[in-house]
Amino acid sequence: MGPNFFERLKLALFASSTLDIPVSSEVPRHIAVIMDGNGRWAKKRFMPRIMGHKRGVETVRDLIKQCIHYEVKYLTLFAFSSENWRRPADEVKFLMNLFMEALKREVDSLHQNQIRLVMIGDRSRFDPLLVKAIHEAEKLTQHNTRLTLTIAANYGGRWDIMQALQRLMATKPDLSSGFSEEELNAYLSMHYAPEPDLFIRTGGEKRISNFLLWQLAYTELYFTDTLWPDFDDAAFRLALQSYRQRERRYGRTSEQLSAGPHA
Ligand code: IPE
Ligand code: IPE
Ligand code: MG
Repeated sequence: MGPNFFERLKLALFASSTLDIPVSSEVPRHIAVIMDGNGRWAKKRFMPRIMGHKRGVETVRDLIKQCIHYEVKYLTLFAFSSENWRRPADEVKFLMNLFMEALKREVDSLHQNQIRLVMIGDRSRFDPLLVKAIHEAEKLTQHNTRLTLTIAANYGGRWDIMQALQRLMATKPDLSSGFSEEELNAYLSMHYAPEPDLFIRTGGEKRISNFLLWQLAYTELYFTDTLWPDFDDAAFRLALQSYRQRERRYGRTSEQLSAGPHA
């Protein structure tokens, strides 16, 4: 017996963009964001960079509200890259403290709003207290289904692919006989989410900076000069508008798309 209706729906919703053709919707189901430009925002105001990070947390809070309003199901935020350790020690320390404080302050309200919190990235360099707080927040919110909020901290796209391969190898030592995309995907950090439909980077740079390298294969990319603390509801609506205008062909021709889904 083949998969039933609900199983087929789940397969279509979580389809890999390279093995299948995922279902496209008017509103992106998954949005991934590089929140960039905090330092420049502060500098413009003759304030220390860290003030920009502080303000950036408020933008995060507003964006979560917007995602709930538009019924976006997955929001993934790049908070700290594996390369951000190269920053001055003071700034790194401030960011770690800010992360801890925000986590403690917001976890109850996230839970009340039925938001599931997941953290992806290498936790081995974090303070044990932070690791504990992350673990508890994930556990508390694990069954929430309104929005899955993923925070990428000490995350790198290359680290992710490497750790997935290493874990796959541990369960399947003879990789020389081959392995499938699905087998590898199961060990990637974001295995629980569909691939992002929309990628947003604020702050003007046009690069991926080692974010979700594997998962962004067919994501629609949106770059804006708006600095992260200034990324308000109107700026978010512009990004959604741009997304709606995209034609998601996944390798097919425009004519095939207008002929309908089964052409
Ligand atoms: C992004 O803002 C936040 C983090 C990387 C943690 P930046 O700190 O990179 O701000 P700019 O790019 O220097 O303006
Ligand atoms: C990317 O921003 C990482 C985060 C937003 C967490 P960066 O400001 O670190 O990126 P690069 O170094 O300019 O590419
Ligand atoms: Mg930056």
